[in-house]
Amino acid sequence: MKIAIHNSKGSFSDRWVSYCEKNNISFILVNAYDSDIVEQISDCTAFMWHHSHGNYKDVLFAKQFLYSLEQRGMKVFPNFNTTWHFDDKVGQKYLFEAIDAPFVPSFVFYTKKEAMEWINKTTFPKVFKLRGGAGSANVKLAKTKLQAKKFVRKAFGRGFSQFDRLGYLKERYSKFIQGKDTFIGVCKGFARLFIPTEFAKMYHREKGYVYFQDFIPNNSFDIRIVVVGDKAFALKRLVRKNDFRASGGGSIIYDKNQIDERCVKIAFEVNEKIKSQSIAYDFVFDKDNNPLIVEISYGYTAPAYDKCEGYWDRDLNWHKGENFDFCGWMIDDLLKS
Ligand SMILES: Nc1ncnc2c1ncn2[C@@H]1O[C@H](COP(=O)(O)OP(=O)(O)O)[C@@H](O)[C@H]1O
Ligand SMILES: [Mg+2]
Repeated sequence: MKIAIHNSKGSFSDRWVSYCEKNNISFILVNAYDSDIVEQISDCTAFMWHHSHGNYKDVLFAKQFLYSLEQRGMKVFPNFNTTWHFDDKVGQKYLFEAIDAPFVPSFVFYTKKEAMEWINKTTFPKVFKLRGGAGSANVKLAKTKLQAKKFVRKAFGRGFSQFDRLGYLKERYSKFIQGKDTFIGVCKGFARLFIPTEFAKMYHREKGYVYFQDFIPNNSFDIRIVVVGDKAFALKRLVRKNDFRASGGGSIIYDKNQIDERCVKIAFEVNEKIKSQSIAYDFVFDKDNNPLIVEISYGYTAPAYDKCEGYWDRDLNWHKGENFDFCGWMIDDLLKS
């Protein structure tokens, strides 16, 4: 039994390595970008890669590589059920409709004509999203018909960069004002107006589709439930000031009593239908206070969860205690599978 781990500093791989070392699990660190990677890991039973939506190389082939290994019979993390929908909100719309999960009503159009016809007969506001992106970077409010039409024209014209330069500067500035970013951070945001990110340079623009969700009003926070196998942990994220978006805002509450356990139950149930190894489920609440899934993601920044006060098991029993090793759970579950 030997695990190959793609080495990527700052990702789950740091913790996977520590867990393997601590528990005498045999592993090798590899570079998945090597052309002969399949041969390099041919004597391994498992392969793990915390691939990222923010790295253009990962986006180009990580999923295809993982699924290929799965076809060969290797154990992989994340596997197909866990990651085919990663960073793909359009894919998630079909998934949640197909499995009848409580999901924010979502709409997608592949021609300008159909999108414009829908806009003329629907209600506003709506939430406009690109299919990829994180930290709320590609999520905007279309308050009116006119604003929605502007998004549609761009979606079927020049398209959108995955990296919103002005949005990025605004975000850094507003975090600076709140004491959550430095002046240098703001300068970097300013520089990004002129120097595109590597991702923006290398990856295609988003176009040829347009995606909207119903706007679920009066949410001052969202709830994120992370399921890893038969365990779950959670946090509450406050929306930014004068905004409706929580993700990426940096105001996190770890108090277990502020987590609506209906979300934990739904996350477990939906995860059983999806049959994923691990997924973070984000919820908002509709006007009748029912939880609705906004989006899902297998990947996240691990340190943000270290302050969770404990976790739930599948029977919704609470296990108190910080610093449980959820990245270790990923390895245990994988080896058991
Ligand atoms: N349909 C919606 N109605 C109300 N708020 C929403 C809706 N969709 C997203 N949000 C808010 O915007 C934030 C970012 O949206 P999300 O789809 O999760 O994008 P990202 O992938 O960037 O995290 C969420 O954390 C939530 O607070
Ligand atoms: Mg989100």
